[in-house]
Amino acid sequence: MRMRKLKWAHNLLMQAEVVAHEPAQLAGRWKQQLNCETLHVEIGCGKGDYWVGMGVLYPQIGWIGIEKNESAAGLSVRKFEESMHSEAMSFIWGDAEQIDAWFETGEVDAIHLNFSDPWPKKRTTKRRLSNSRFLKKYERILSDKGQIIMKTDNSALFEYSLLEFAAEGWELYDVSVDFRREPHDEDVITEYERRFMEKGQPIYRAIWNVPSHNHDLPE
Ligand SMILES: C[S@@+](CC[C@H](N)C(=O)[O-])C[C@H]1O[C@@H](n2cnc3c(N)ncnc32)[C@H](O)[C@@H]1O
Repeated sequence: MRMRKLKWAHNLLMQAEVVAHEPAQLAGRWKQQLNCETLHVEIGCGKGDYWVGMGVLYPQIGWIGIEKNESAAGLSVRKFEESMHSEAMSFIWGDAEQIDAWFETGEVDAIHLNFSDPWPKKRTTKRRLSNSRFLKKYERILSDKGQIIMKTDNSALFEYSLLEFAAEGWELYDVSVDFRREPHDEDVITEYERRFMEKGQPIYRAIWNVPSHNHDLPE
């Protein structure tokens, strides 16, 4: 869905303290910066319901929201500033294509992909956040026990992702084709998710373990 451009968003994003304006300069130092031992990243956080909500539920974890759309990013940051929030939070206004420049090898403990754009046309497959190009970047920045947690309403994107992760050697740790059949108070409902739940659509969810790293093996 195309978003109306919000004129105030640019100024807010330029001034807000929670926004990391030079994220590459924090690579390798995020945990120290946010004073946390565990770091979670949400890519495509939209209007910020999940990023802000999870920060409140798990204040001991560092939460970094990433969003490329200026208006959505502005709404996320405004939500953060207007709500009760944890201190261990940061925001990157940018395209996750750059994610490997923003984090050091093994620095991230979990990546959340919530209701990512499906890019249904074949020629746009590469833009899917679960495309192998992205999986290779995630693999490098995730810790040895790192995980990706994905939720979507889109069965075609879900099928594609299951195959793509398998082809790249990720281990499927958990899967559900109707995640909200049972209450999951431990997991904040996103803006898109609420819309699909109200229409009675099932929510697909999977967790993958990062492929075993070989960094420490002798040559
Ligand atoms: C369908 S919306 C879902 C928003 C939110 N996660 C939710 O569940 O309500 C997908 C969001 O991902 C963002 N997005 C897509 N590709 C991205 C990328 N490469 N880097 C950063 N954000 C991205 C879009 O701008 C959009 O706001």
